[in-house]
Amino acid sequence: MQSNIDQPGPVRLFSRSAGDGFPVVLLHAFPLSSAMWLGQREGLAGTCRVITPDLRGFGGSALGVDEPSLDAMAADVLALLDAAGIERAIVGGLSMGGYVTMAFCRRYPDRVAGVVLADTRAGADDEAVRQGRERLAQAVLADGAVPLVRDLLPKLVGSTTKERRALVVGRVRGLMQAAPPGAVAWAARAMAGRSDSVETLRALRVPVLVIVGEEDEITPVGEAHAMVDAVADGRLALIEKAGHLSAVEQPELFNQAVEGFVKQVAG
Ligand code: MLT
Repeated sequence: MQSNIDQPGPVRLFSRSAGDGFPVVLLHAFPLSSAMWLGQREGLAGTCRVITPDLRGFGGSALGVDEPSLDAMAADVLALLDAAGIERAIVGGLSMGGYVTMAFCRRYPDRVAGVVLADTRAGADDEAVRQGRERLAQAVLADGAVPLVRDLLPKLVGSTTKERRALVVGRVRGLMQAAPPGAVAWAARAMAGRSDSVETLRALRVPVLVIVGEEDEITPVGEAHAMVDAVADGRLALIEKAGHLSAVEQPELFNQAVEGFVKQVAG
């Protein structure tokens, strides 16, 4: 694995882990970090080995010098598994983490024992969304996190969280404010360039758990049903009173779904 951040190639990801047993990699949403998985590290450590890296540029991981692409992020995750001596893992992610998971499945299907796709979608962006991401990238590079928090925070959490969970909203705001502008712009451009993953899902021959918050506005419940329909062996967990960040808004319900899935996959 390359660790020289001046050269193109995999970046050595900073990662937080908890627990023992079957490895479960969870990839975070945009523009957050592995800190969003605190409730999963705490709640799932008795069931499995939870591995939560900071995707490149976020948290403790360097951005590297590659052009923006989800494939580069997937290659980083592969390098992480190689460095840890893990042959096969359950790989999953929430939203952007789900896009990286699908890129990982496309490139390295033999390394995947099961897949978790939370609050994400299989389709690529249309032109209007791509342009919006480029505007966001330029605004954040020019003005920092202010436009990001203003435009995105209200959509990231569901209506129940906005009404009743001020601490959760504050925590998400803090994670967004900590995101380096360069990483935000890079990741926005990487997401804009991603390809459609429906065929990748159709080709999967491992169990897939799709999770969605019932109040998710960014990747609504219909997107989750479409992913379940695309895979050969899928099941859906609907998380009540949660929006797009279902793992952060309702960690116990999210963990219950993952725990049942891990027991099924790992035996
Ligand atoms: C995320 O939560 O990772 C983002 O909302 C994904 C996206 O912008 O498509």
